[in-house]
Amino acid sequence: MLAIRNIGELNVVPRGPVGGRSMGDVEIVANAAVLIRDGRIEWFGPQAELDAADDCPALDARGGCVIPGLIDCHTHTVFAGSREREFVQRLEGKSYAEIAESGGGIRVTVEAVRNASCDELVELALPRLNRMLHRGVTTVEIKSGYGLTVGTELKMLEAVKRLDALQPIELVGTYLAAHTTPREFEDRPDDYLDLILDDSVLSRIREDGLAEFCDVFCERTAFDVPRSRRVLLAAKRFGLTPKLHADQITQCGATLLAAEVGAISADHLENTHDKAIAAMKSAGTVGVLLPGCSFYLGVDQAPARKLLDADLPVAVATDLNPGSSMIESLPLVMSIACIQAKMTPTEVLVAATANAAAAINRQDRLGAIGKGLQADLIVLDVPNFDRCVYEHGRDAVRAVVKNGEVVVNKNL
Ligand code: NIG
Ligand code: FE
Repeated sequence: MLAIRNIGELNVVPRGPVGGRSMGDVEIVANAAVLIRDGRIEWFGPQAELDAADDCPALDARGGCVIPGLIDCHTHTVFAGSREREFVQRLEGKSYAEIAESGGGIRVTVEAVRNASCDELVELALPRLNRMLHRGVTTVEIKSGYGLTVGTELKMLEAVKRLDALQPIELVGTYLAAHTTPREFEDRPDDYLDLILDDSVLSRIREDGLAEFCDVFCERTAFDVPRSRRVLLAAKRFGLTPKLHADQITQCGATLLAAEVGAISADHLENTHDKAIAAMKSAGTVGVLLPGCSFYLGVDQAPARKLLDADLPVAVATDLNPGSSMIESLPLVMSIACIQAKMTPTEVLVAATANAAAAINRQDRLGAIGKGLQADLIVLDVPNFDRCVYEHGRDAVRAVVKNGEVVVNKNL
């Protein structure tokens, strides 16, 4: 049992998916308290109505606001090596696509990941996750996609599974073997797909609980629409839910494919268009924006306001990866979503909690504040959530509660 007392403002984020037009509506309870039992929210409301024994263990929010634990629903947190050379090349004028086409990009990380053991991948990712936890992130989706052989893709997913058991953040694995065609299969992408989509591989992923989702980078520099369709339909037969990297660099039909295959999310969307937005809306696909990636690459943001006006449920994630978004901080990305993509702080809060949960099929348990939901909560050292975004770059997280346990307490 745990009581969180002296909450200045409790942000009662509703369960996802929340349509864009309602994302600005979050009920606030002032001078609130939350009562947690067995990892679940048992009660929340005005502190004056709190009915807890005097000796109930308590966390003092000291007038700060409380929000659901943040959910980073699109990351590539497991990787080896680093790519600061490309970062400098981009500053000198080369584009992300040009670097990829001249042999740089994803393939550089592939080399490093192939050479790393599973133990090494775990060791490299653990401190990243620890830093994410301290910034209020309680659930993270992690993709494979830097091995590009069956063995090394499974090694990455194995690393995710081991990391899940080693630290408090709940991890969700996604099979992204179709991230790009590996060098050895340069002109034979279909032969590569034959290997990674073999029944034995997909059934092992499902049976060993290595991934719940299958993602594909549907793009000119990666896989076209027919090949992406093949990947997602094959994975779906083995219970892996489709996701896509869609409309990041060009409009190649990726988002329409997302709607066609019933993808749970279409991610990136920097270059999306009206027809695609309508298709996603009617298919119930969550639009996942990665504003840190656009910021990092110095390109235009996805048309966030257009997606919101179309009432699409919109999520926001870091896309943490060593190439296009070497940004671990979801709060930083949330600030970028406000300043550059013109979302309001409340919309961004819903995007990084309720709708992020919906993008990874966790909306019935995570991402919201409601009786019976899992107690993943963060206490912020600011009186309201707008202040948190306004004080851009400041670490406002005072305490993190994961599944009812206080796992970070900076009050001490
Ligand atoms: O989400 N778009 C494709 N994949 C990653 C980038 C991977 C990389 O550059 O290493 C992304 O941006
Ligand atoms: Fe990505």
